Amino acid sequence: MDVLSNIQAPINDELVELNRILVEKLHTNNQLINKIVDRYLLTKGKQIRPILILLCARMMGNITPTTILSAAAIELMHNASLIHDDVIDTSMYRRGHPTINAVEDNRLAVLMGDHFVSCALQCGVETNNMQIIAAMGRLGQELAHGEINQIDNARQHRLSEEAYFEVIRRKTASLFRTCMHVGAISVATDDDTRARLEKFGELLGLCFQIKDDIFDYYDNNVIGKPTGNDLREGKITLPLLYAITHNDDEENARMRTLLDNDNLDSEAIETLINYAKTRGGIEYAHERMLQLRNQAVECLEALPPSMARQALIELLDYTISREK
Ligand code: IPE
Ligand code: IPE
Ligand code: MG
Ligand code: MG
Ligand code: MG
Repeated sequence: MDVLSNIQAPINDELVELNRILVEKLHTNNQLINKIVDRYLLTKGKQIRPILILLCARMMGNITPTTILSAAAIELMHNASLIHDDVIDTSMYRRGHPTINAVEDNRLAVLMGDHFVSCALQCGVETNNMQIIAAMGRLGQELAHGEINQIDNARQHRLSEEAYFEVIRRKTASLFRTCMHVGAISVATDDDTRARLEKFGELLGLCFQIKDDIFDYYDNNVIGKPTGNDLREGKITLPLLYAITHNDDEENARMRTLLDNDNLDSEAIETLINYAKTRGGIEYAHERMLQLRNQAVECLEALPPSMARQALIELLDYTISREK
């Protein structure tokens, strides 16, 4: 069994129920929507976010119907953000399949993303829990804010690690933080413990995006989506950011000049990717992930040991070591 299957084994029944809810919620009486939904659901993705919610609730008490509904809500919001992201990034491939914008067009992809958000809201409402609905509202705002910041940073050619971390905290880590928040709320955990769990989620989410950004530096058939895309969109991620800001020689000046362009061609992208790799950018990104990982583990230390707590740490380590 692979690592992720092992981690999710204790919550398999709940994941089956969650997937039943997703199918039920996403289908309508419109044939075009159903056709797109059916094709979309052929590949589910790793479902790390609902796994996180279910493990969090299991660790703190018993998984309730509210836990499963909020896990469905968050997974739908995540998928909506991916569908919209592939329009924003003009990306034609995800999970080894053509994206909705590739098969249909941008109009339908934007609208299907909206459909997913609305289904997420319905799941949220069915929990009857205002704290969960409020968390979803905040999350939607954070995700959009992060993506807009990212465009702004690219436009301004901003080369700052602080700006990078602010983007990934909003566009990615906020989802993982919300997972721990709703998981804890669904089993009524005290405020202090919940804050610790949320911090764990946020740190895991930061690791998750740094790892995803590293993927973009390598040709890869396993990952199921295009690589080299980030620089094409003007996004300078941690490995290159480190290499650019920690060197100061003639080659560095040439790289900075390349980055002054608004549109990078394939040759420039290859040059910059090689520069990041040969100047220690990938190693640095790994170091940062490891630091964040250790801080995340500390967040769980005060909690009593359990199988679910162990599984959360394994999920954190999987985030860093995964190959897709
Ligand atoms: C992709 O997330 C988006 C990022 C935050 C990098 P996942 O890698 O969790 O996507 P799926 O759902 O497993 O395909
Ligand atoms: C991930 O950003 C964040 C969101 C999807 C909101 P990316 O643009 O790097 O995600 P992938 O690599 O396309 O999955
Ligand atoms: Mg993308
Ligand atoms: Mg993107
Ligand atoms: Mg990416």
